[in-house]
Amino acid sequence: MDIHNERRLTGVKDGLLWRKMMAFAVPYWRSLAVSLLFALLVAGAAVTQPLLVKSAIDDRINGLMKPMVYVADAASLARLAGDERTQGKPIVLGERTYYRVSQSGETWPEGIYPASISQLDGAYYLQEGRSGESGSAAGGEGYALSKEEIAAFRQQDYSGLIILAMLFVLNVAVTGIFTYWQSVILSNTGQKIIFDMRNVMFSHLSKLQTSYFDRNPVGRLVTRVAHDVEAVNQLYSQVIVNLAKEVLMLVGIASIMLVLNVKLALVSFAVIPLLVLVTFYFKGIIREAQRVSRLMLSRLNSFLAESLSGMTIVQMFTREKQQLDEFVKLNDEHYRAGMRGSVNNSIFNPMIGFVGNLALALVVWYGGHSVLAAGVTFGVVYAFTTYVRQFFQPLTALADRYTQIQTALASAERIFEMLEERPDIVDRENAKEIERPLKGAIRLERAWFAYNKEEWVLKDINISIKPGETVAFVGATGAGKSSIIGLINRFYDIQRGSLMIDGVEVKDYKLDQLRQSVGVIQQDPFVFTGNIYDNIRMNRADLSDEDIRNAARELEMDEFIERLPQGYETPVGERGVKLSSGQQQLLAFLRVYVSDPDILILDEATSHIDTETEETLQRGLLRLSKGKTTLIVAHRLSTIRHADNIIVLDKGRVQEMGDHDTLMRRDGHYRKLYELQNDEGPKEQRGAAARAGGALAATIAK
Ligand SMILES: Nc1ncnc2c1ncn2[C@@H]1O[C@H](COP(=O)(O)OP(=O)(O)OP(=O)(O)O)[C@@H](O)[C@H]1O
Ligand SMILES: [Mg+2]
Repeated sequence: MDIHNERRLTGVKDGLLWRKMMAFAVPYWRSLAVSLLFALLVAGAAVTQPLLVKSAIDDRINGLMKPMVYVADAASLARLAGDERTQGKPIVLGERTYYRVSQSGETWPEGIYPASISQLDGAYYLQEGRSGESGSAAGGEGYALSKEEIAAFRQQDYSGLIILAMLFVLNVAVTGIFTYWQSVILSNTGQKIIFDMRNVMFSHLSKLQTSYFDRNPVGRLVTRVAHDVEAVNQLYSQVIVNLAKEVLMLVGIASIMLVLNVKLALVSFAVIPLLVLVTFYFKGIIREAQRVSRLMLSRLNSFLAESLSGMTIVQMFTREKQQLDEFVKLNDEHYRAGMRGSVNNSIFNPMIGFVGNLALALVVWYGGHSVLAAGVTFGVVYAFTTYVRQFFQPLTALADRYTQIQTALASAERIFEMLEERPDIVDRENAKEIERPLKGAIRLERAWFAYNKEEWVLKDINISIKPGETVAFVGATGAGKSSIIGLINRFYDIQRGSLMIDGVEVKDYKLDQLRQSVGVIQQDPFVFTGNIYDNIRMNRADLSDEDIRNAARELEMDEFIERLPQGYETPVGERGVKLSSGQQQLLAFLRVYVSDPDILILDEATSHIDTETEETLQRGLLRLSKGKTTLIVAHRLSTIRHADNIIVLDKGRVQEMGDHDTLMRRDGHYRKLYELQNDEGPKEQRGAAARAGGALAATIAK
C-alpha cells in the first residue's frame, strides 16, 4: 500500500464514512447550527443588496416617472382611501392631490384620473388625463412644472433614498459582521473537532499491540494523525456549512432573477452550460495536479526524513550523489505538478471571467433592448448585472467543494481504518488481580509463536523456571531470544500452547499489573523528551526527586548523572542532550530499579556499558535481583556461566538446556559455541568480552 496516495483504497460506503465523521461533529452541533444560521443570514443579505439598488433606481431616482392618479375633490379622495394600488404619500398641489400608483392603464373610480410626468430637454411636464379618456395619461404637451412643484413631487424620493441608503449600509454591516462570526465559529469548531479526533487517535494508538506497530511504519501513522486529520478538517470548517450557503445562494439568486424577469433570467442562464463545461474541464486538471503535488510532497517528506536521519551513513558510503539525484527526481515531479496546477489555474480564472462577462453582455444587450421597448425597468437590468456576477462565485466554489469532499473522504477512510483496528492484547473479562510480589515461577508448555501467520519464530517451547532462578538464553542472532522475552509481559501473545506465571496464564492477568511486575531492560532502550528525573520515574509518580537521587546513589550512578550539564535536570531526548548508548542503558537500569519489579529481564542490557561502570552496576543489581526470577539474554557466554539454567535456542527451538557444567559435559552446541568464543580468535578480544559482562552475570547468578 502506498501510504502517500490519497486514492480511496477500500470500498467503504460514502454514507457510512459520512456518518462516522459526523459523529465527531455531534458534540458541536450547536456551534455548527449557529454558523449555518449566520451563513444563511449572510446569503440572504447578499442576495437582497441588488434589490435595494434596484428599488433606489426604479422607485426613487426614476420615481418621478411613475404613473400617478390625481383627485380634484375631497369626496373622491375618500373613495381612493384603502385602494391598494396607490403607493407612498399623497402629493398636494393646489386643489389636487396626486398619488403614485403601481400600474398605469388601470380603470379608476369616478373623480379619479391618471396623470404622469415626463422629461423633455431637461424640463419636466405633467400630463393629466380627463374623465372618459381611459387609462393612459401620455400624450400632449402637458404642463411644465416649476422647480418648487418638482421638489414637491420629489419630496418622498429624497426621504426614500435616505432610508434605502441606510438599509444598504445596514445590510453591508450585517453581511460583514455575520461573515466574520460565521467563519470564526466555523474554524474554531473545526479546530475543536480535530483536537478531539487527534486525542482519540493517539489514545487508540497507545492501546494497540506491538504487532500493529511492526506492520505500520511510524511515517504512515504520523501521516494519519497529522495530515489526514487536516484533510478531514476541511470538511468541517469549509464544506458542510459553506455548501449549504452556496446552494442556498444559487437557488435564491436564480429565483429572484426569475421573479424579476423570466425572459431576462433565461437569457442570463444561457451561459451556464458553457460555465459548467469550462469548470469541469479545468478543475479536473487542477484537481489531479494538486493530488500529484501533494503525493510528491508526501514522498519528498519521507525521503527527506530518511535521508536526514541516515545522513551519516550516506556520507560514510559517499552516496550523496545518488541521494541527490533521487531527491531531484521527486522534487522535479512535485515542481511540475505544481506548475501544471498554477498554469491551468491562471487559464481557468480569466476563462470564468470571460464567461461571466459573456453573460453580462447578454443581459445588457437583451435588457437594454427591453428597457428601450419599455418592457423592463432600468433597475431590473442593473440588478441582473449584479446577480449574474454573484451567481458565478458559488457555482465555481461548488467545484472546489467536490474536491475537498473527495480528499476528506479518502483521509477519513484511513483514519477510521486505524480507529477500527481492535487491540488484540487486552484484559480478559474478570482479569485476575496480581498479588505482589509474584513468586516468579515461569512455565512455557508446547508454546508456539509467530509474528506473522504461520511463520513460526518459536516452535514447541517447553521451559520451566523456578522462583528466584536466574536463567540465561543463548543462541545465534535471530534464534528467538528477544521473542521469548516479549511474551513474558505480553507484548505479544503466543498462538498455541501455554505460558504461565505462578500457575496462571499470563493472558488471565490484568495487563497493566503484569507489566508493572515484570521489569525489562531492552536491547536498545528509549529515552523520552524530558529530564533525567522524568525518564527514570516513568509510571512511579509517587517517587520524589529525592527518592530518585537515592536510587541513583545506591546503584552508584549519581556520578554519571551529576556530570551532565544540569545534573538531574538535564533535558534529554529529542530536544535535549543526546546521551550515549551506554548512558541510555544506565538510565534504563535505573528506570527498572526504581520500578521494583518481581521478575527481571535483561536483554543484552549491558552491551554498551564499559567494564568499569558495569562493575559498579553489579553491586546495585545484586540487591535488585535478590530472590527474583531473572532472565538474561547474552551473546557472550562467559557472562552467563553462573546461571542456574542456560537455554540454548536454535531457529526457534530449544536445542539444549542445563547449567554450564552439564552443557559442557554434553559436548553439544553450547560447548562448541563456548569454545569458539574462548579458545579461538585474538586474545585481547576474548579478554575484553569476558571482562565486559562476566562480572555482572556472575554477581546476579550468585
Ligand atoms: N517485530 C517483528 N516482526 C516480525 N518478525 C520479527 C519481529 N521481531 C523479530 N522477528 C523475527 O523473529 C525472529 C527472531 O527474532 P528475535 O529478535 O527473537 O531474535 P534474537 O534471538 O533476539 O536475535 P538477536 O540476538 O539478534 O537479538 C527473527 O527471524 C526475526 O526476523
Ligand atoms: Mg534480541
